[in-house]
Amino acid sequence: MSSSLQGKVCIVTGGAEGIGRAIGERLLSMGARVMIGDIQQEAAEKFINEYHKTQSTAEVSAIFQKTDITSVDDCRQLIKATVDRFGKFDVLVANAGFSGDPFLQEVDSDIDVSWMRGMQGNLIGTMLLSRLALAHWTRNNIRGAIVITSSIAGYFPSIGHPCMSYAVSKAAQMANLHFVLEKAAKEKGLTESPIRCNAIMPGAVWTGIWHKGRHAASNFKDPEDFLSRNPFGNDYFDKMNGGWTPMNKLVDAYIKCIEDESIRGSCFIVNGAAGEMRLYPEEGSTEVGGSLEWEKYVSREKRDPENWAGSVAK
Ligand SMILES: NC(=O)c1ccc[n+]([C@@H]2O[C@H](COP(=O)([O-])OP(=O)(O)OC[C@H]3O[C@@H](n4cnc5c(N)ncnc54)[C@H](O)[C@@H]3O)[C@@H](O)[C@H]2O)c1
Repeated sequence: MSSSLQGKVCIVTGGAEGIGRAIGERLLSMGARVMIGDIQQEAAEKFINEYHKTQSTAEVSAIFQKTDITSVDDCRQLIKATVDRFGKFDVLVANAGFSGDPFLQEVDSDIDVSWMRGMQGNLIGTMLLSRLALAHWTRNNIRGAIVITSSIAGYFPSIGHPCMSYAVSKAAQMANLHFVLEKAAKEKGLTESPIRCNAIMPGAVWTGIWHKGRHAASNFKDPEDFLSRNPFGNDYFDKMNGGWTPMNKLVDAYIKCIEDESIRGSCFIVNGAAGEMRLYPEEGSTEVGGSLEWEKYVSREKRDPENWAGSVAK
């Protein structure tokens, strides 16, 4: 099956598991070649080996480079290894991240190393890699696309995810997006710029972020088990206006941002049963690549802007 992603070379950070892995799988199924940049070697190699076993040719379409996105050297090496192996680099899915501390109830404690870790992993890592990608594409005159994984927590802090460094870093990723975009647009203007940058703010998606790390001791078996013993309180998902977000639906949004060249500088919340909501640009706008096409793509009927606290969709 031919797609616009056939032969595209995509870096997916945090692709060893969770959302990144699901994006990697979809990209591969659409004919792209994928470089996984992650701190977890075993999980990434397992994914890659499993994928290649399902293929009828010996062609290598997925590779792994051990990468800590908070390290400039690792980020440089990630891009270099991608180009060395696949000959080019077209798409960056800046997705790696983790939950972190402090949670709401600890916000009055001293700022500590865990707060800094959260900022580094979720913000500085994304910023480093997107700047390096921008520099690489600009230097080599390449059309490139970045999709950043932010979080609904960046828009609804404390409701979206009651962890301070997480919410702050995810909100700040939006400023990063705009600087990358502005810089990319300097020569040819926003709508003509060959480099695009967009972001997705996922709602809650059932991945290791919910049952490993900080929540590991609770041994949550599945999303239902999590809900029945919800550590954030039983009205958490009501406040989020959504419930769990289906992975497929979420990955659709990434693919649309990668494929649709009219989408640039946009940010989409993709959240549970509430569906998708475009945060900016304003609906119908033709500025910053506002895409009417997107409106056909998202399921409008599931959207009820009145129910979104502080909705800016209008
Ligand atoms: N799952 C959710 O509900 C949810 C909601 C909103 C946003 N997100 C965001 O989605 C992204 C992916 O999270 P997930 O839910 O798939 O979690 P996950 O734990 O399943 O996957 C995260 C991946 O990122 C990798 N990673 C973490 N720190 C890294 C670093 N410094 N360098 C390289 N790789 C690193 C991990 O090894 C892991 O493979 C994160 O940015 C997260 O904040 C998740």
